[in-house]
Amino acid sequence: MAAERSKVADLEANHNFLRKQLEDAKTQELLKQRELSNVSDEIEALKKRHARELKDLEFDLKREVIAAKDELANMKSRHARELMDLEMDVKKREREIQQLQEDLRLCRGDLERERETVSTLKSTISHQSNARIALGTENHALQSQKTALQTELDMYLATISSLNLKLEASQKEIDALKHETMEAETARRKLHNMVQELKGNIRVFCRVRPVLPSDLPSPETPPDSSSANIAFPDRLDHKEIVVASSSESATGQERKEVYNFNFDRVFEPESSQAEVFEEISLLAQSCTDGYNVCVFAYGQTGSGKSFTMEGGPTATSSGMIPRAVEQVFQVAEELKRKGWEYKMEGQFLEIYNETINDLLGKGEFDKKKHEIKHDPKTNSTRVTDANVVPLHSPTQVRSLLAVAQSRRSVAATLMNERSSRSHSVFTLRISGHNVNTGERSEGSLNLVDLAGSERLNASGTAADKDRLKETQSINRSLSALGDVIAALGEKGEKGDKHIPYRNSKLTYLLQNSLSGNSKTLMILNLSPLAAHLNESLTSLRFATKVNNTTIGTAKKQVRTS
Ligand SMILES: Nc1ncnc2c1ncn2[C@@H]1O[C@H](COP(=O)(O)OP(=O)(O)O)[C@@H](O)[C@H]1O
Ligand SMILES: [Mg+2]
Repeated sequence: MAAERSKVADLEANHNFLRKQLEDAKTQELLKQRELSNVSDEIEALKKRHARELKDLEFDLKREVIAAKDELANMKSRHARELMDLEMDVKKREREIQQLQEDLRLCRGDLERERETVSTLKSTISHQSNARIALGTENHALQSQKTALQTELDMYLATISSLNLKLEASQKEIDALKHETMEAETARRKLHNMVQELKGNIRVFCRVRPVLPSDLPSPETPPDSSSANIAFPDRLDHKEIVVASSSESATGQERKEVYNFNFDRVFEPESSQAEVFEEISLLAQSCTDGYNVCVFAYGQTGSGKSFTMEGGPTATSSGMIPRAVEQVFQVAEELKRKGWEYKMEGQFLEIYNETINDLLGKGEFDKKKHEIKHDPKTNSTRVTDANVVPLHSPTQVRSLLAVAQSRRSVAATLMNERSSRSHSVFTLRISGHNVNTGERSEGSLNLVDLAGSERLNASGTAADKDRLKETQSINRSLSALGDVIAALGEKGEKGDKHIPYRNSKLTYLLQNSLSGNSKTLMILNLSPLAAHLNESLTSLRFATKVNNTTIGTAKKQVRTS
């Protein structure tokens, strides 16, 4: 038993031991299991990490592949560009080569031509040198000829110098003669002026107008066939006019008559406005010295009165009125230096049928009644309601004249040819005052374009009452003008005499300018036409009557205040 008990105790101890071992094994297993799970966790973590790393690697790899692809594409395109550039470069080079080849070709052509030129020049030179040799021989011959001529020339020169001496002597003689002639001319002028002084202050000029194309029946007619036989024999003083007329007597015989007239100056058809003015400029400017000056244009219609007085539009054709005005302004300007101050006024009137019209006015013609008033104290004349315009410049006067002209032509549409049936009187009054000496002067310049002097056939116009009245008033005023001038002449000779100024409006208007203190010029205008010969003779006789008159010696109107 004890042995069984010890065997049981042993068994038990073994069992315990085994149990303990089992338990240990179990613990050990647990540990191992735990360890295993740890390891598997670790493996799991590792797996995950590897997977992640793998993914990253994959991603990086892809990126690198893309980058590499891009780079490849870039490189490809760059290469393509470079290739293109290279190709273009090659083409350019090829073109350059072509151009150079062309240039070379041209140069070769040029060279060829130059060579040709050189060869031609060479042949020319050889020709020239041949010619030079020929010329040299010729020159030699000429040289000897020249020597011969030189001798001849020397001979001639000697002759010339002796002739020159003779010429000089002749020239001296001529100069002496010229001097003598000049002195004679001065003496003649002096005498001429003396005669003028003695003659008094009426001058008569005669001017014959040229034959106009409109005077001829056709442009082919020679002017001479229409002209009257008029001659101007006085080539020196131009004072004579000779008119020849031929008429048939009752017995059918041709009767020739020659009429001789003398005036202060006769102007031929070729004479210019400037030449006529030259003769009257001193007279015109004497109004600045205080004289009253009257210039009348007398003659039949169409004889050139208006041409002489007013003239044409150009500087060379302008007439006596614009020229005289210009001259007066010029003289007044020059006299300023001597202390003279001038005031100028203008008036332009028309006398038609013994009625005065104001050519510078605005009213209707023949409506306003203008009266002539004389002031015996100042010897001045005034026309009521007539415009007196202060004058500043020749240009202003020219425009005034144009206004007057247009007024006249407007009136002419109402009544035919009014300007040739009326007198026009342009008056420039000039009063001066010398600031140094206190002298005063009053003068006037009257420029009158008279109505046509033709005698109208009274029976022919009797049917027309207006025409008859016109004719009568023209005849009356022109003969009144003649009478006044004639009476003034007689007064000069015999002393006091009644002067019939009142017989016409014209003479009454000009009373103060037609007295002993005035200078008067009548320009007789003549037509050159044979058809007007009788009328011209009548005019010449009238003018001769005026010319034989003297109005004493003109006196300046100068007062000292
Ligand atoms: N000296 C002259 N030179 C050129 N033409 C002139 C001359 N005198 C007059 N005439 C011309 O003759 C024509 C008649 O002249 P005009 O002056 O009208 O005459 P009036 O006034 O006497 O009737 C006009 O055509 C005018 O231009
Ligand atoms: Mg006229």
